[in-house]
Amino acid sequence: MSLEDAAESVRVCSQCALCETRTNAVPGLGAGSSGVMFVGEAPGRSEDLRGRPFVGQAGRILTEALRAAGVSRDDVYITNTVKCRPPSNRVPRQSERDACRAHLEAEIRILRPLVVCVMGNTAFGSLLGGAGITERRGSMVRRAGMLYYPTVHPAAVIYNPSLAGVLEGDIRNLFGVVERIRAGEVVDAPEYTP
Ligand code: URA
Repeated sequence: MSLEDAAESVRVCSQCALCETRTNAVPGLGAGSSGVMFVGEAPGRSEDLRGRPFVGQAGRILTEALRAAGVSRDDVYITNTVKCRPPSNRVPRQSERDACRAHLEAEIRILRPLVVCVMGNTAFGSLLGGAGITERRGSMVRRAGMLYYPTVHPAAVIYNPSLAGVLEGDIRNLFGVVERIRAGEVVDAPEYTP
């Protein structure tokens, strides 16, 4: 299966009721060249209208944080825990996350990223289990042989602008670690326990 096949299966998905209220399903988008996959919560209004992830205000914040860390958005793959917009942007239900899990797992299997960057509590809970992004953010953990790096969700910066520096700093740190991995270093990442 290719990334395009995975995207097509998202576009035609009817595994949960969110398909009835969406305008467009929103598959992940981008490239694996940087070795990093970013995972957010769920599409918002702009994403639902355009069928592309992180193209609204939170997307501009993410793009700017990447730019500040010297990374082009074109070199990263960006996706969400849930691929269809929940009505009124509510947090996706557990049943919706479960129904969408196969799509996210397929993206990870195909892209084989060096690191999955988990943005915010919903992605954190879905991928790693547990809560507490504030305490867990900014350091690498390992789970089932995969490296995960939790950070704050870009939308949190809208409500708390002081988090802009936190997001930028985390992304800068993340790509520093990725450089070390590419250089063959075994990085320190404890096994995650919720
Ligand atoms: N917030 C998300 O979590 N994902 C998007 O695609 C947009 C906003």
